[in-house]
Amino acid sequence: MFEARAANVIDWCRRLSAHTEVPGTITRGCLTAPMRLVHRDLMDWMTRLGLSVRIDAAGNLRGRRAAATTPAATLYLGSHLDTVPDAGAFDGILGVVWALAVVESLGRTPLAANVEILGFSDEEGVRFGTPFIGSRTFIGTCDEELLARRDASGVSLRDALVAFGADPFDRDADMAEAVAIGYLECHIEQGPVLEHLDRPLGIVEHIVGQTRADVTFRGLARHAGTTPMHLRHDAVAGAAEWIVEAEQLARKTPGAVATVGRIGAEPGAVNVVAGSCRASVDVRHASDATRHAIVARLREAADHIARRRGLMAAWVDQLDQPAVTMDAEMTAALVRGVESAGMSFERMTSGAGHDAMVLAAHMPVAMLFVRSPGGISHHPDESVRVEDVAAALAAGHHCVLDLAGALHG
Ligand code: HGY
Ligand code: MN
Ligand code: MN
Repeated sequence: MFEARAANVIDWCRRLSAHTEVPGTITRGCLTAPMRLVHRDLMDWMTRLGLSVRIDAAGNLRGRRAAATTPAATLYLGSHLDTVPDAGAFDGILGVVWALAVVESLGRTPLAANVEILGFSDEEGVRFGTPFIGSRTFIGTCDEELLARRDASGVSLRDALVAFGADPFDRDADMAEAVAIGYLECHIEQGPVLEHLDRPLGIVEHIVGQTRADVTFRGLARHAGTTPMHLRHDAVAGAAEWIVEAEQLARKTPGAVATVGRIGAEPGAVNVVAGSCRASVDVRHASDATRHAIVARLREAADHIARRRGLMAAWVDQLDQPAVTMDAEMTAALVRGVESAGMSFERMTSGAGHDAMVLAAHMPVAMLFVRSPGGISHHPDESVRVEDVAAALAAGHHCVLDLAGALHG
């Protein structure tokens, strides 16, 4: 029953990945023209399924299957629709297409609960420099500071929302219901664990916390040919020393990861000693105390290196997302769903961040992982196996009937 649906899910993800900002890559930022095309295609499928469809105040795509009885609580399913630059075809969007295929597999089965599919507008945080904009708005924590954030071309989030046709002032109308059954997210694992264990599915127990920040080293821009080495205040050299220290600290701390994924030097000329260098940093650990201790050490190291080199170091926090534990009852229902599907699974911690960690502050959440062949993600070679997607669909089908309460008409 689910193999054909799984092939269709994979086909949908690959076709939707053609909606990109950069032809030849999969690059889809929030509130962009390619995102509008993804909405168009998914809204068409949702409408054919009889869902009520809309775009909310944060540019999230929403598709709602009404309960057979009223009043009714709501079970949310979904994930994010944006991507990192030069991404794979499954990170995020698989969870939205999976949700649609699960709802489709329910046919006309009357349910005691509403089922609402959420396609979050921004989880990666690429365009506006901070992640989870869609899910944060959904739980009501989008504020004026967030709406005022600007992208690389100076467009504010507020103006981007209005230009996209979303109404950032109508946020309250779009918030999650106060008493939701919960949120179930299906996502690729994005790592090598399930493949190593030869398991098709994972059930997430915890999602590690993450800190994101920008560190800017400022020195003196000088002529590369005439400035002796001992008279330099080289911002790139200072940043490089700090980046190596960040890597060494994470290597020495069990369970920690620290990544500098983006750096930029000014003025950026080959023959000029850089006057300033800005580096991003992403620190993650299952323990918030350990993560915060690492971040404190990195801030001290930046100041120490700057003093020694006659530089200035400025640290700007972009995110402090606590580690999250999945809801035990939702997770038990997910285990029942996987077992009803006759599938094996592995309980695990997620090193990747997900919208589920934001919604966990507002409702019970659970996450289902699908094996990532080669552990590859955030890369065009990201893939899934059709038999694993079929397993995830079967598990989702049973789990939604369990949580939403199938009524026998
Ligand atoms: O960065 C992450 O963990 C996720 O892919 N947004
Ligand atoms: Mn991602
Ligand atoms: Mn993701």
